[in-house]
Amino acid sequence: MLKKGSILVNKYLIEEIINNGGTSIVYKAYHNTLEIAVAIKRIIVSNKLMFDYRHEVDILKRLRHTMLPRIYDVIQYGQEIYIVMDYIDGESLEQLLVRTKGLSEQEAIALILELTQVVAYIHSNNIVHSDVKPANIMVTKTGQIKLIDFGIAHQAGDSKKQWGRSLGFSAPEQLNRQDVDHRADIYSLAATLYYCITGQLFTPGQSVNTECSDISEKLGYLLKQALQSSPGKRHQNIQQFRNQLHRVSSQTDCSFFSFKKLPVLMCLVFALIAYGGFSQIEEHIGVTGLIINTLFLIVYLHGLIKKNYVSAVNSSVFSKYYPTKKGSAESEITAFDDPNQTELIR
Ligand SMILES: Nc1ncnc2c1ncn2[C@@H]1O[C@H](COP(=O)(O)OP(=O)(O)OP(=O)(O)O)[C@@H](O)[C@H]1O
Ligand SMILES: [Mg+2]
Repeated sequence: MLKKGSILVNKYLIEEIINNGGTSIVYKAYHNTLEIAVAIKRIIVSNKLMFDYRHEVDILKRLRHTMLPRIYDVIQYGQEIYIVMDYIDGESLEQLLVRTKGLSEQEAIALILELTQVVAYIHSNNIVHSDVKPANIMVTKTGQIKLIDFGIAHQAGDSKKQWGRSLGFSAPEQLNRQDVDHRADIYSLAATLYYCITGQLFTPGQSVNTECSDISEKLGYLLKQALQSSPGKRHQNIQQFRNQLHRVSSQTDCSFFSFKKLPVLMCLVFALIAYGGFSQIEEHIGVTGLIINTLFLIVYLHGLIKKNYVSAVNSSVFSKYYPTKKGSAESEITAFDDPNQTELIR
């Protein structure tokens, strides 16, 4: 294990251990020449598994996307492999869920919709991540989402792949060591969405209950399809899944300042004008009524512009979960407090 203050290959000053898991140790380090923070993942390997772990590196270095960490270096010392990559300044979704006690349906959908962008990119490169779950999704302090851990990712159709599974998130075909394709990632995205809202791990074959959970009927319908045990009954590609999720998202956005309400409002205003012209309206509702209505319209439009401006500037739903004051997170025990359940079994 690398000690704090030690320097790896004359370049990386080890600052702290970020995570000490079963299959890897992740360090935060400082890149002396580039003068940036980096994360170094030390993979614990045996000779037998060496090939597979180099395969993870080979997959990641081919991919370039803002939602994926960039690889800077790979160092091999006998049986030890260190992957040097972008340091992501944030926390895993698993940690965030413990802190926030879960997400609302709208928040969880927004998160998964964002994730589908990077999953679509990976799939377009013919790669299956096969370990999408809250512990492998990171949320930065500015609310950006990143997908990490390509430990068991593989080229679609590659028979020499590393096998692993995460209970509650892996598709049944993966649990059963059968062939896995991109539809397993769709299942895992849906299982992650389910977990974010309910705090429950989804068991293959169980029903998605919308009556006594926080899941709306429309989302329940989508989840039922995406969580089908048979890959042939799920959404067949990420775009299908994304489009349907988009529709659910726009149907459940019932906030007052919504663009969808604007046409209705405008129709009312035009109908009123068409009904009798401005002076006639004044006659009907009086000057005070007219002023009140105009003020209402201004406030509404202001709210609408502000809402959409804010969401355009910061598209993430997570900024509110990063309190500026220390100690504002509560310590109540919830269903999200047992991360061991989501451990990867290899
Ligand atoms: N690039 C990074 N920047 C910051 N933190 C990171 C980075 N990569 C990984 N981590 C942290 O280390 C944890 C483990 O990383 P990763 O999932 O890649 O390894 P793992 O092999 O799955 O580890 P484990 O055996 O614990 O599951 C992540 O949940 C995250 O907290
Ligand atoms: Mg992991």
